[in-house]
Amino acid sequence: METGTADFCLTGATGFVGSWVAQALCDQQAQVTCIIRPTSNLRWLEHLNVSLVRASLLDAGSLRHPLRETRFLFHIAGVTKANHPYQYYQGNVETTATILEAAYRYGKKIEHILVLSSQAAAGPSPGPEPIDEAAPCRPVSEYGKSKYRAEQVAREWMDRLPITILRPPAVYGPRDTDVLEVFKNVARGWDLRVGRTEQQVSLIQVRDLARGIILAGTHPDAVGQTYFIADPQPYFWSQVVEWLARLMKRTVRTIRVPIILAYAVATLAEAWSAFSGKPGIINRDKIKEVAHPYWVVSADKIARELGFVTQIELQAGLEETYRWYREQQWL
Ligand SMILES: NC(=O)c1ccc[n+]([C@@H]2O[C@H](COP(=O)([O-])OP(=O)(O)OC[C@H]3O[C@@H](n4cnc5c(N)ncnc54)[C@H](OP(=O)(O)O)[C@@H]3O)[C@@H](O)[C@H]2O)c1
Repeated sequence: METGTADFCLTGATGFVGSWVAQALCDQQAQVTCIIRPTSNLRWLEHLNVSLVRASLLDAGSLRHPLRETRFLFHIAGVTKANHPYQYYQGNVETTATILEAAYRYGKKIEHILVLSSQAAAGPSPGPEPIDEAAPCRPVSEYGKSKYRAEQVAREWMDRLPITILRPPAVYGPRDTDVLEVFKNVARGWDLRVGRTEQQVSLIQVRDLARGIILAGTHPDAVGQTYFIADPQPYFWSQVVEWLARLMKRTVRTIRVPIILAYAVATLAEAWSAFSGKPGIINRDKIKEVAHPYWVVSADKIARELGFVTQIELQAGLEETYRWYREQQWL
């Protein structure tokens, strides 16, 4: 690792999604600067030839140096789990406002900015029909509301900065710790379902998403646009569980948890998170999302306008992820 500035500047590169974007850029021999915090864990960046700059996404002045030579800025940092709504607001909205203000002030060479949002900003789909980018945003969780607000901040800058907003659905793949819980349940022989109805979702494998971020964040036609990005095929979680069970050679038993019980468990889990100081994956905000049966988006616009198509089919993506979890002894 080096220190300095480069063509591509990434926030959130120490996280699950950002580390794969950093890796994909390095594979293309691109010059990459990662904005990190003093507390950031560098485990996913250690083997990469990237420059590291310690700066605060809550202090525009501190971003002057990394943004000075940047041509492409990918704002990937965000908070996906929190103990309090304010943490979502700070980690998603305030960081976006700060980096865009800094880009405007100091990023004189910036050609393109990608702001990574989420399907959660749009909210669930009303039925099994996929929603597209023209659908009104109806976020249901505090996380989703903060991502929607961050999008609004980005749109307010669009007349002065070349911004693209990208909205992935649930992302899975090596290094992920959220969908890992589904793998763990299957390994225990459980197919855990919250509520009566089966959830149908859009998904994307993280290496496909990394490719999409680089494409949408550098393609001139993407400036000023918002895109969903996803595997074109929606899936029931039961299909995912079925494939995982086959992969792990496990027999699974379906355990249905009523919403009300899930809320009670989430409340207890939150109390534990508040005590331990570490936000967990089970919380009432997550249950608000899980309570909606359809989270299905159309990725037609990004395919039509930028030519993006996913390359990793679900079965292959799950297999790669499973192998990786086993190698890391996460499973
Ligand atoms: N994972 C998904 O399923 C999914 C789906 C849709 C959208 N997204 C979006 O993708 C992005 C990355 O998510 P992820 O799953 O990769 O999460 P993650 O593994 O938790 O990584 C989050 C990254 O953001 C950084 N970050 C958070 N708050 C920050 C702050 N205040 N200042 C500076 N850096 C901060 C973290 O830095 P530290 O290492 O210092 O903590 C880390 O690098 C987020 O914007 C999220 O909303 C994720």
